[in-house]
Amino acid sequence: MTLDERLQNVAVIGAAGKMGSGIAVLIAQEMAKLKLKPENNDKIYRLNLIDVSEKALDGMRLYMKTQLLKVAEKSTVTLRGIYEGREDLVENAEIINAFVDDSYALLNFTTDIKVTKDAHLVFEAIFENEEIKIKVLKTLRELVNEDTLFMTNTSSIPISYLDEKAGLGGRIIGYHFYNPPVIQRLVEVIAAKATTDELKDVAQELGKKLRKTLVSSSDISGFIGNGHFSRDGLYALNEVERLKDKYEYHGSIYIMNKISQDFLVRPMGIFQLIDYVGIDIIECLLRVMRTHLDDESLTSSLIDKMANNKILGGQYSSGAQKDGFLKYEKNRPVGVYNIEGGKYFSFDDEWRKNIDNDLGILPEGYSPWRTLLSDAKKQDKLKAHFNNLKKMNTWGAKLALSYLKKTKEVALKLLSDGVATSADEVNAILTNGFYWLYGPINDYI
Ligand SMILES: NC(=O)c1ccc[n+]([C@@H]2O[C@H](COP(=O)([O-])OP(=O)(O)OC[C@H]3O[C@@H](n4cnc5c(N)ncnc54)[C@H](O)[C@@H]3O)[C@@H](O)[C@H]2O)c1
Repeated sequence: MTLDERLQNVAVIGAAGKMGSGIAVLIAQEMAKLKLKPENNDKIYRLNLIDVSEKALDGMRLYMKTQLLKVAEKSTVTLRGIYEGREDLVENAEIINAFVDDSYALLNFTTDIKVTKDAHLVFEAIFENEEIKIKVLKTLRELVNEDTLFMTNTSSIPISYLDEKAGLGGRIIGYHFYNPPVIQRLVEVIAAKATTDELKDVAQELGKKLRKTLVSSSDISGFIGNGHFSRDGLYALNEVERLKDKYEYHGSIYIMNKISQDFLVRPMGIFQLIDYVGIDIIECLLRVMRTHLDDESLTSSLIDKMANNKILGGQYSSGAQKDGFLKYEKNRPVGVYNIEGGKYFSFDDEWRKNIDNDLGILPEGYSPWRTLLSDAKKQDKLKAHFNNLKKMNTWGAKLALSYLKKTKEVALKLLSDGVATSADEVNAILTNGFYWLYGPINDYI
């Protein structure tokens, strides 16, 4: 069966979630484009959007309309080609609205998993709980045809484990979209031991259709992206434990956030990133990796305490950032949490000046990530930045160089453990998925 044939009947499980809803938008557009080809006029196309939460599905109806409109607005040239024969559609707005309606007409929002029975391709995007994922995949296996293929969005559960436990016989592959799937270019592809060649080909072909950058990872818990992120984050968390006697929790978190964002020229500090991903999600990620890798070092008592206190970060449905390690106003960090006192400390207060003083200045000629992003000479400037950092004798420079070294070691360990097969793969994940300007395997350190 060709990919285009598979795209006649598709299901997304966990469709109302963050990832499921984004995947639904991407697939709905592709299905609508196929359906609108003259030769497919009389074929029935169906995208089943399945979730256990009726309420979330209700919210999703509006979400799908808004998102489909947004993407249609950006593709008027393509859409003009698609609707070439439709003389009734003249204005851009008419074409856009027609595409939104045609895409929306393919959708079936439901809590009834049985509708998947005719699906040729199933995307699984239920939250990261292996018992539930396995239970649902088993149910699906019994419902669908023998040639139905499965793509799971798991962030950390080995695909071979899911395959074996759910008895899918190699009809599953890890297709790890990054958040949000509509915007993020990267998809990490993880084949299980038994994944069929046909499914590997479908995964590649779909990536091309969706114009995604595909990077393969070995089937080892956490894969490349979260394999690196979890350990990079744990380093900062452990540094906080080391520094807290002198600077307390809020000061130490501030220090490591500033070191990672400013001194290492990343898009956001490590604690802002942890808040963005969600503290409960990190707790879960570490738990899954700890179990599957049998590695007790993959743990953080600070993460556990924050999760117990229900200070979780993540986003409101409006997209606004919730407070976590940092406090946010209009999505910008304005303060930092101290778990011991249970309160946030404002960045405007005196404590911060003392810490900035202890850290010392940034290297001469420093440009923040956002400025360098569009700078044609960014590689030269980054090189100069890290060279300058190495010449400095400040405490901030020392902390930054230790972090840079650690982050490289983590990446090299992913290589020696066989999670990645080349430095390019690791660097591609960090630059494409995490928007770093340089890969962790570099000559800066
Ligand atoms: N959020 C991220 O940044 C991110 C990034 C990459 C991958 N992932 C992975 O994607 C998957 C989904 O994550 P998310 O953040 O979208 O989670 P989420 O909590 O936003 O959404 C999960 C959805 O699954 C639904 N659900 C739960 N049990 C179900 C069942 N039995 N049948 C059908 N629906 C069910 C929930 O109602 C919810 O709508 C996870 O495996 C996660 O690890 C997440």
